[in-house]
Amino acid sequence: MEENKSYVMWNNKGGVGKSTITFHIASVYAENNPDKDVIVIDMCPQANSSSMLMGGGSSSEVILQDLISRSEPQTIVGYITEATLTGNADLSKYITQIDLINKNLASNLYLVSGDGNLELIAPLLSQRAEATPLSAADNPWIKIHSIIKDLTKKRLQKNRPCTYFIDTNPSFAIYTQLAIVGGQKLLVPVNADDSSIFAITGLFNLIWGSDEIHPVYGKYTFAEKAKAHQLELPKITYLLGNRFTQKIGAANAFKALSDEAIKKMYDEFCSNPEKFEDRDFDVENITDFEEAFSVELRDFNSAGVVAANQGIPLSKMDKHSYEVYGQKIQVAKTQRELCKAAIEELVQKL
Ligand SMILES: Nc1ncnc2c1ncn2[C@@H]1O[C@H](COP(=O)(O)OP(=O)(O)O)[C@@H](O)[C@H]1O
Ligand SMILES: [Mg+2]
Repeated sequence: MEENKSYVMWNNKGGVGKSTITFHIASVYAENNPDKDVIVIDMCPQANSSSMLMGGGSSSEVILQDLISRSEPQTIVGYITEATLTGNADLSKYITQIDLINKNLASNLYLVSGDGNLELIAPLLSQRAEATPLSAADNPWIKIHSIIKDLTKKRLQKNRPCTYFIDTNPSFAIYTQLAIVGGQKLLVPVNADDSSIFAITGLFNLIWGSDEIHPVYGKYTFAEKAKAHQLELPKITYLLGNRFTQKIGAANAFKALSDEAIKKMYDEFCSNPEKFEDRDFDVENITDFEEAFSVELRDFNSAGVVAANQGIPLSKMDKHSYEVYGQKIQVAKTQRELCKAAIEELVQKL
């Protein structure tokens, strides 16, 4: 039978579209794969993708607050707490079947909700990870860092494989490290701007380490510890070009910047192909690389933004106008279809 799969969405930069893309791909993937269970793990304290899945607006905030404030939170914090204390948490206690809250979404879509208290438990997790081992077999660092990886091996029903989508915070906090280790496949959204291209270098250095290791701090880094403990890290699967027209005007300027992002990734691919997912054809030049490892999402425009903020999958967006916080927003049919096609194309590849 098919194995579980797990995708983690990360870039060391905020506002690149991680949560919005997580919402869109998870909702479309669940519709296209009724024979699987699809679970979003929201590893960001802001819980944006959780609210999108819950339908957005103030009602999603009320539901989220209820899940967070229980004595055993029905969120990722509840799960991590039980897993830390017992070594093996019961996933069914912490997931939310999302169509019970948002009827627009498929019934095989589940959420382990985000929770602002991830920030509060972060120092406690770090302390436990850094604890002195009690025996030769004890490895607190690996134990803590494998909590999400172990979660993604679980199934809700024996005969149904699960696909996990993990949303993250841009910071490289310990909970982000757990999220990254939890993904077999890494999706990297980038915008066409300088800071998002710089963030690609940050991403490689933080996950795999840099060539120049600092004489003092070097051994304390995640990358060095992951190497020392032979921890398996995700493979880069796609660079997702998420285009914002409001950030960049001319199409040619956009092309120049996204070419630069691809070139940076390609240089890394040439020196360290093992960081990238295997492809069943040879990648011999940058054109092959772009074809193999980059997906252009183009502009979501109002269609993608409105859909995500109201928790409507693109397949069910059939009206011309939507009300967002009291304002009528027009969403043209051509826009809706372009946006839907872009997400479908990506989901087909997953
Ligand atoms: N392709 C796009 N076109 C237009 N707006 C977008 C696009 N992708 C994301 N956005 C908007 O940009 C903002 C940041 O997106 P978000 O998904 O929250 O990013 P992140 O999770 O990386 O911080 C949101 O307001 C979202 O609606
Ligand atoms: Mg986000």
